[in-house]
Amino acid sequence: MKLCVIGTGYVGLVGAAVFADWGNEVVGVDIDEKKIKKIESGEMPIFEPGLEELVLENIKAGRLKFTTKLKEGMKDADIVFICVGTPQGDSGQADLSYVLGVAGEIGKNLQKGRYTVVVTKSTVPVRTNERVKEVIQSVAPKGVKFDVVSNPEFLREGYSIEDMQNTDRTVIGAQTERAKKVIRKLYGHLESPIVETDLRSAEMTKYAANAFLATKISFINEIGQLCEKAGANVQEVARGMGLDKRIGTRFLVAGIGYGGSCFPKDVAALSRTSLDFAYDFSLIRGVMRVNDLQKHSFTSKIYQEFKGEALGGKTFAVLGLAFKENTDDIRESVAIKIIHLLRGRGASLRVFDPEANENARSYLGDVGIHYAKDAYDAMKDADALLVLTEWKEFRELDLQKVKKLLKNPTIFDGRNLLDQAEVEGAGFKYHAVGKRTNAYHGTDVKSALLPK
Ligand code: UGA
Repeated sequence: MKLCVIGTGYVGLVGAAVFADWGNEVVGVDIDEKKIKKIESGEMPIFEPGLEELVLENIKAGRLKFTTKLKEGMKDADIVFICVGTPQGDSGQADLSYVLGVAGEIGKNLQKGRYTVVVTKSTVPVRTNERVKEVIQSVAPKGVKFDVVSNPEFLREGYSIEDMQNTDRTVIGAQTERAKKVIRKLYGHLESPIVETDLRSAEMTKYAANAFLATKISFINEIGQLCEKAGANVQEVARGMGLDKRIGTRFLVAGIGYGGSCFPKDVAALSRTSLDFAYDFSLIRGVMRVNDLQKHSFTSKIYQEFKGEALGGKTFAVLGLAFKENTDDIRESVAIKIIHLLRGRGASLRVFDPEANENARSYLGDVGIHYAKDAYDAMKDADALLVLTEWKEFRELDLQKVKKLLKNPTIFDGRNLLDQAEVEGAGFKYHAVGKRTNAYHGTDVKSALLPK
């Protein structure tokens, strides 16, 4: 089929490359000329394993092209995908200006005598596709035939190609059988189920999925808080719970809270949508609150360790700046928020991330921060080491070397990434999340309600 993909962010660029790899003729469209030039020359705007190779391979095979001109991109397209951003607005709502703006442009460029399916892949609140349809209708030439479809994307950054190629399911929300048939043809070769539904349910499915995963994370973070107080171990609890197939082991890793360009924004948007429909989704408010508190619970351990709240004169080595491993994305990264908090109290930082140093530097600047060339460089003469992103390579640190480099053998592991027995055995004071370690600060709560 001939496809036009509008937007070359995570969803658009990965989507265009994967669709082309499936044998379709794809044109990726973006208004940013510099970005398009870079992509064409093989320089990806994002760090995503396997993306550069996939894009170049498909350009070479003649299946993938890029342009800044929508008219050219939409020429003879069977399907037009909207993959532009829906950033968070001032009151938590999803800002739909890019989606609706693009809808208007699509409307003007629809061809007479051709049936086109316009698919929204961007994450949009329930009922948005109906607005997309209205906008298109209001500007499209008379008699043009089109349908709108909601086809949310579930890929994770860092694993996006793998996720798109082997998705657990495809959700297609549509108003007509004709539209469903076209989209079914695109995804029909995948082995996983296709969920065919109406527009509103498809839109809601995406928010429900992200909000549920965020709920799992906040839930395990709260269990972790309780474990720490009660002397249990959140990792053991998560495993014991998660092996129940109804629960599942994934997204039960306690840490410093979730970040990224999706969960914080989508959870807030769902909360806002519920208010728009005069419903108080109280659970989701709790999920957001717990997530916000989680980083403070982590930094309070640092304040306690260094006696008092002013950290002037202290230097911390930070491993990990990206919001998670395998990406250079620092949007809503909790690591960055923690750096802000520590710098705000006068601390200096020596930071390292395998991919996100540059993005962090352009966001945080250089004041009080040294961007290290590797993990060990970050540790030189630091008062303690903080592990803030779950990069696999941080698991394999040479602990003897770490000990020599740090001023004090103290580690704050915000991701429970290191092996407690090894770290403690090597003589470190080890702070972790949701479990007691040799650095446990709390006091045993002797509640009157506890059994004697
Ligand atoms: C998330 C969803 O997982 C995707 O399915 C969805 O398509 C995407 O949002 C989106 O809406 O575009 P992503 O933001 O790439 O994907 O990252 P995740 O792997 O979900 O991680 C999100 C955050 O949760 C990270 O900060 C991560 O460190 C944290 N996390 C994740 C935990 O703290 N504990 C866990 O057990 C899992």
